[in-house]
Amino acid sequence: MKLYFGIFGLIFFVFSCTKEIVTTPTSNTSAGNTNSNTSITYSNLWIPPTLSGTTFNLSLDKSTKQFFSGSITNTYAYNGANFWGPTLIMNKGDQVQINVKNNLNETTTSHWHGFHIPAEMDGGPHQEILAGTTWSPNFKVMNNAATYWYHPHLHELTAKQVSMGAGGLIIIKDPEEAALALPRTYGVDDIPVVLTSRKFTSTNVIDFSTAYGDYLLTNGTLNAQISLPKQVVRFRILNAEIERGYNLGFSDNRTFYIIANDGGLLDNPVPVTRVPLVVGERIEILLDLSNDALGSSLDFKAYNANLPQGFGGSEPAQSGQFGSLLNNKDFPVLHINVAATNTSPMLAIPSTLVKNTTLAATDATNSRMLMVTGGQPNGPAFSFNNSTFNHQTINQTVKLNAVEKWTIMNNNVFGHSFHIHDVQFKILSRSSGSVGLHESGWKDTVYLPVGQSVTIIAKFDDFASDKYPFMYHCHFANHEDGGMMGQFLVVP
Ligand code: C2O
Ligand code: CU
Ligand code: CU
Repeated sequence: MKLYFGIFGLIFFVFSCTKEIVTTPTSNTSAGNTNSNTSITYSNLWIPPTLSGTTFNLSLDKSTKQFFSGSITNTYAYNGANFWGPTLIMNKGDQVQINVKNNLNETTTSHWHGFHIPAEMDGGPHQEILAGTTWSPNFKVMNNAATYWYHPHLHELTAKQVSMGAGGLIIIKDPEEAALALPRTYGVDDIPVVLTSRKFTSTNVIDFSTAYGDYLLTNGTLNAQISLPKQVVRFRILNAEIERGYNLGFSDNRTFYIIANDGGLLDNPVPVTRVPLVVGERIEILLDLSNDALGSSLDFKAYNANLPQGFGGSEPAQSGQFGSLLNNKDFPVLHINVAATNTSPMLAIPSTLVKNTTLAATDATNSRMLMVTGGQPNGPAFSFNNSTFNHQTINQTVKLNAVEKWTIMNNNVFGHSFHIHDVQFKILSRSSGSVGLHESGWKDTVYLPVGQSVTIIAKFDDFASDKYPFMYHCHFANHEDGGMMGQFLVVP
């Protein structure tokens, strides 16, 4: 087996080296952010503005952003932002309406990632918003307090539209979260941290044909810094990449505390010094700055050097389709300056959070198996069960209220990020033997390492339809666009 994977790995590597695209490293390498020792000119972290209430108006527009001095880059963004979009703040239990106006010259969709809502409101590939039109879904917010996001999901244009900058965070609030002593002043001690990298052509045009960016953008900001108060602060971190995974930690290797996964708070804060975060996953962490000296600084970093083969971005190549200047390197994602404590600071990490109900293997009423396939001559690079996404094909049918165990096996050539719409699931087991404490809560996206399988369990309740399917897919937008996606109906 080892040899088998070795040969495929080699073929993959050679393939990746021969598929050079016309991208020369830009004239702006001095702005590169791979080295924390040389002097870096920081920019203040952009904090997306917020929208709240029960009616949300979004418009997706062509926009521009100056990433590099003397040059303007074309982007896509919502509501007049330069890259990315506003953070929507919703309350659990509210009935909300969202009006999404598409001001692009091409069709888009708007998916509410992680939301438990009817399939026709989900914003997947079937809910097309033609150029110049507005789509107005409405639904009840049923999810727990946590960090979610919205992004385009049009089949074969997802990678392009996301790469161009289209996306935004959604924060759901609920009474259980509100009752806890947690930092929650947005932009002050509760900080959105959206991680993604981009490659630029020699004229600083976003190159959306490649898997990995050369330049890290934190909330769209190159070389980002922030001043944070000397107290406990919260980060809501989203991996909004195309393929790159992150192995996150702080430059002094301090312990920090994971308090939430994709779909809600954990039972207890989980202390860690590093945490992996693959595409589409979110975590919320607490960082204790109360013992840091006023005026001191530290870096939040990606410890991405020497990660296992198959982890997105571990490839050694610096250029080409699977190469980038950030590959297989440690690099800062946010420079932190410790500033004065603000009023009503949190000064301690809570010992307990919420009581989650849990699903056990014995609760399952059905189970199914998905295999990562692909790589046949003339076939797609990646697929599930040897079939690529087809609008007309329903790949799985689930009965309403079923509790299902899904095992996703990856004996293919690379790691992936597996995402299911409609439900939040629990990870039951990994073939490697251990489910991380950092992924012990409610999840909608899970890392699928190469050569391993993962088994998850979810209840498919509340929403059934004979007509409108939900999606499951690899969240690497290029894999998804390439057909590594299937659809399921939840039927009455
Ligand atoms: Cu975040 Cu099917 O998507
Ligand atoms: Cu989703
Ligand atoms: Cu994939």
